[in-house]
Amino acid sequence: MKVTVVGAGAVGATTADNIIRRNIAEEVILLDIKKGFAEGKAQDMSQTAALLGFESKITGVTNDYSATAGSSVAVITSGIPRKPGMTREELIGTNANIVKTVVENLVKHSPDIIILIVSNPMDTMTYLALKSSGLPKNRIIGMGGALDSARFKYQIGQKLNAAATDLNAIVIGGHGDTTMIPLIQHATWNSVRVSELLSDDEQADIVQKTMVGGATLTSLIGTSAWYAPGAAAAAMVESIVRNQGKLFTASVYLEGEFGHEDIALGVPVIINNKGWDRIVPMSLSEDEKELLNKSADAVRKMNQVLSD
Ligand code: NAI
Repeated sequence: MKVTVVGAGAVGATTADNIIRRNIAEEVILLDIKKGFAEGKAQDMSQTAALLGFESKITGVTNDYSATAGSSVAVITSGIPRKPGMTREELIGTNANIVKTVVENLVKHSPDIIILIVSNPMDTMTYLALKSSGLPKNRIIGMGGALDSARFKYQIGQKLNAAATDLNAIVIGGHGDTTMIPLIQHATWNSVRVSELLSDDEQADIVQKTMVGGATLTSLIGTSAWYAPGAAAAAMVESIVRNQGKLFTASVYLEGEFGHEDIALGVPVIINNKGWDRIVPMSLSEDEKELLNKSADAVRKMNQVLSD
């Protein structure tokens, strides 16, 4: 299978690196607009094959979409990241133009492609990609909830001194500091409810730290994070390419599910070789529904900017 990663910056390169190291796809095309940038990163990564022992091939190209022809999956990471003090929403103008053009070019060369959107503000970019491409809704997937859920598990693991892999916990809603909803009442450690093991204050602290997880890293590093975002995108690509049917929170187009429509919002979905195959229903409390409504309102407002 062939996978294209657009944007050879921090997140794109890390995504590609994870894909080739784990032989998820036989062929990876890394594309960037900056001359020579993707070529250089791809060569550097290729030179790790002898050391790490993988067979995947990676080729870097400068804005040459003909090289992406026949891709089964593309991950779009092109755009600008946020700087300390910026919200994801402030990136909208620049990234909307980039994402729209990139999607058009990808679809032209790979009409059956499944597209994973990473560029921020991700829910709005996912909505834009769907509306501008006219692709079936199942083939446009926004990556954000998978990362936020991994960060949520990290915070719970820190409090319980537990392995993140033993935790079951998801974040739904928009992929923004104030729009994401870490579902602490649903979180379990093996089959024990986390809420039975931690005080209210400890639970509130986990939720708060998860919501500012990205911003915390941005202020520490000076730009937004890439290791966990790249790992999250690669895990979703793997579920598509290997038809694993894994459950992720992903931003997908809703048509009444969870009480919302005409919006891309983070909900639990099964991901396989069809893209997102189906939305997994959950029973939410009245408080959680209220939070989801507020989150959807904020994302809708952001989507409105696209038509202003
Ligand atoms: P970066 O600045 O390191 O890389 C972006 C790359 O995109 C650059 O190499 C740039 O040359 C390239 N680019 C710009 N316009 C392009 C175009 N038209 N065609 C092809 N390439 C183009 O940024 P980073 O840190 O990799 O972040 C990328 C995006 O991902 C940002 O919008 C960031 O906010 C977002 N992000 C989203 C996450 C999520 O969970 N959804 C998590 C982390 C970052």
